[in-house]
Amino acid sequence: MTIRASSTPNIALIKYWGNRNDEWRLPAADSLSITLDEPTMEVAVDEAEQFSARSFQADGMERYLTSKEISRLEKHFILAKNYLNSVGAKGIFTASVSLEIRSKIPPGIGLASSAALFSALAEAYAAGTEQISRRDVSILARLGSGSASRSTFPGFVAMFAGEGNAIDASYAQQVAPANHWKLFDVIIAPSLAKKEMGSTEGHALAYTSPLFAARMRALPERQRICTEAILQKDLEKLRSVAEEDCLDMHAVMTSSTPALNYLSQATHRIVREIEELRAAQHLAVLYTMDAGPTVHLVCEESALPAVRAYAHAQTACAVFEARVGRGSRLL
Ligand code: PMV
Repeated sequence: MTIRASSTPNIALIKYWGNRNDEWRLPAADSLSITLDEPTMEVAVDEAEQFSARSFQADGMERYLTSKEISRLEKHFILAKNYLNSVGAKGIFTASVSLEIRSKIPPGIGLASSAALFSALAEAYAAGTEQISRRDVSILARLGSGSASRSTFPGFVAMFAGEGNAIDASYAQQVAPANHWKLFDVIIAPSLAKKEMGSTEGHALAYTSPLFAARMRALPERQRICTEAILQKDLEKLRSVAEEDCLDMHAVMTSSTPALNYLSQATHRIVREIEELRAAQHLAVLYTMDAGPTVHLVCEESALPAVRAYAHAQTACAVFEARVGRGSRLL
């Protein structure tokens, strides 16, 4: 029996960077994001004697997976199977699986393709299990990519770091549903080249930054303000805390050893121009970047025409547009 699931990326407003346990991707701190409705990713999962995975791009062309990518997917399946067994929820897939991935998300540019992928897989692996809760599905997703945990819920979603080293200590939870606040994410990708160092390796370097300890101290208050801004639909409050946290995460990245420079000249130019544009036109828009040069412009509907026009004037960039979405689900 083929199980199909789909999912979408999320964009973090309070960023997750650094684990206290890399093996199980237990994060060092809480984070918060918006689940997007685009671009989509679909997976088809079949029972198989031996693990295999194939991936296809939006144009239908196969994107050959590296052995490292295949190992990560296989490891996630094994962790997910063990977790399901540990909560007494026997999944459909007992031996191994063959995966077919169909993705409209360019990988490795800061557009959370792994969040969409591992949240979709979590849905598929949990299919047919009765005892499983949404929290468990978020844990299954986290075992493949920490931020994937947040794509298992629609709307505005927090990921709680929790305490201790139990595999289920950290999970995601909805802060507000998708229809709570009509926001848009205009996404400008200056480059579609895959980043050199993925976030899995990047998280392990966070502790080498002299700025990491101060970041950890600042995060609980930022998470609180961000949650409040969302509940109050206060874009100015959200802008201030989200931009502060984004720049802080990138400062940790660039001051780690080795240094991680995910942002490009084009990213810095776009950020500067957006600051000028919103000051001139009083636009309700904020910028934020994950682990890549891609700029996310999160805005209210009133700012959308100006933000969209700006984005489409960036002729050398790929542009995507998303609304607040529902994240992972079985098809
Ligand atoms: O889930 P990962 O391991 O791909 O880490 C994602 C890290 C950031 O995108 C940079 C921040 C976040 O919270 O999504």
